[in-house]
Amino acid sequence: MKLAPSLLSADFSQLYEEAASVEQLVDRFHWDVMDGHFVPNLTFGPPVVNALRSRLTKPFDIHLMIERPATFARQFDVGPADSLTFHLEAADRPEAVMEAIRSLGCRVGISLRPSVPLDRLDPYLGQIDLVLIMSVEPGFGGQAFLPDALDRIARLKARTEDLGLEIAVDGGIHAGNVQDVVRAGADVIIAGSAVFGANDRAAAIRALREAASETN
Ligand code: DX5
Ligand code: ZN
Repeated sequence: MKLAPSLLSADFSQLYEEAASVEQLVDRFHWDVMDGHFVPNLTFGPPVVNALRSRLTKPFDIHLMIERPATFARQFDVGPADSLTFHLEAADRPEAVMEAIRSLGCRVGISLRPSVPLDRLDPYLGQIDLVLIMSVEPGFGGQAFLPDALDRIARLKARTEDLGLEIAVDGGIHAGNVQDVVRAGADVIIAGSAVFGANDRAAAIRALREAASETN
């Protein structure tokens, strides 16, 4: 299981220090880019993410919760280990968005709101590197995990076994449910409040990893 903390729950007045404080303990960083249109919240965009990219070494997993994803995707300075994930519901022409992301030389991901049927992904599964399953409505950290996500993860896992595609799961994950999420088939766990909401981040990360790997 790979762990990618979401900086949405970090202290925005010191994003670099927040990320650096856990960098040695995590596999990637998850950045929630929101535009106030696709979701009813605003965060940060390419200038902020690019400035942080130049100072941190772990891969960036950039979650675009925005309209016009192709236009903005082009503005990120990313490399081969990084990924840009867009929402299928936000894309009029998904192929054009995938092409725009590919041309940056990074990995391509697609995400769906919890209410969007999983089979909408079918035409694209052979052309992408990861699927981001939302286990909350996109827009805010600290929401409760939607249990229907477990079935979606398992169905996607069964459908993509041969494709070498990564399944990332985002929203409401904590030490009490991470094992269910991993057992259902998640390869990457995104956790915001469970990491940055904890007083002791190292202990919180350890708890997530230990709970994910428990065998009973
Ligand atoms: C929600 C974001 C998530 C969020 C997860 O729109 O996509 O990445 O930060 O936060 P928690 O782990 O607190 O649900
Ligand atoms: Zn996210």
